[in-house]
Amino acid sequence: MKLTVISGAARARSKSNTALILENFCRGYEAEGNQTQTFYLSDRNQWEAARAAFDASDNLLIALPLYVENLPGLLLEFLGTLTPKRTPGAKLAFLVQGGFPEASQLRCCEEYLETLPARLGCIYGGTLIKGNMFFLRLLSDKQQEELRMFETMGKRFAQLGRFDKDEVTLFAAPEYMPETALKVFRGPGKFFQRLVMNAISRKMGGRGNLEARPYKDGE
Ligand SMILES: Cc1cc2nc3c(=O)[nH]c(=O)nc-3n(C[C@H](O)[C@H](O)[C@H](O)COP(=O)(O)O)c2cc1C
Repeated sequence: MKLTVISGAARARSKSNTALILENFCRGYEAEGNQTQTFYLSDRNQWEAARAAFDASDNLLIALPLYVENLPGLLLEFLGTLTPKRTPGAKLAFLVQGGFPEASQLRCCEEYLETLPARLGCIYGGTLIKGNMFFLRLLSDKQQEELRMFETMGKRFAQLGRFDKDEVTLFAAPEYMPETALKVFRGPGKFFQRLVMNAISRKMGGRGNLEARPYKDGE
């Protein structure tokens, strides 16, 4: 079976965590004897082909990073250009990943996505959610081994033909951080976090102070 995949990430494919996750997910899906074809909306030259593939396919997956607890504007813009399918039967599933670790903060987006397939003339195929993905591109090859969990989920998606909500909840844990971990983050962890975030910022080319508040006087 062929799966048409559309990545709604705004970052270019070479820098996108969604793209890295999709490579692993699709490897798992293909290992079950299937094919995939992926379109990246960050490249507007692919929009026309992505729209044509949406129209022609009855097995679809839209992948996206969580942006302010919901969909990136780029993906919303693309969705607005689609024509709802007239022939029933096409299945549309989603893969959403975010930077923060708690699965609970991806639930608002999941609720919206549950309503979306019907608006596009499709059947809902479930949503895979996963947090804690912020540092993906900064991990060493060895640490990226962890991404194999998405290969496993690609295989499961191929076997079930959809995402099972209970399995996804286990995969996406923790739903909430334990109180002890939160205490560490609010206390000594704050200092450590600041050091790490500043180091990451420098690695990514940031030059200013992360805590700068240039408009403070005008508040
Ligand atoms: C504008 C913006 C808003 C974001 N909002 C959230 C958010 O609400 N929750 C979250 O967990 N991560 C949030 N993130 C983090 C991204 O979801 C995360 O880093 C993701 O892995 C990026 O994937 P990409 O590289 O494919 O764009 C946000 C990132 C950006 C740039």
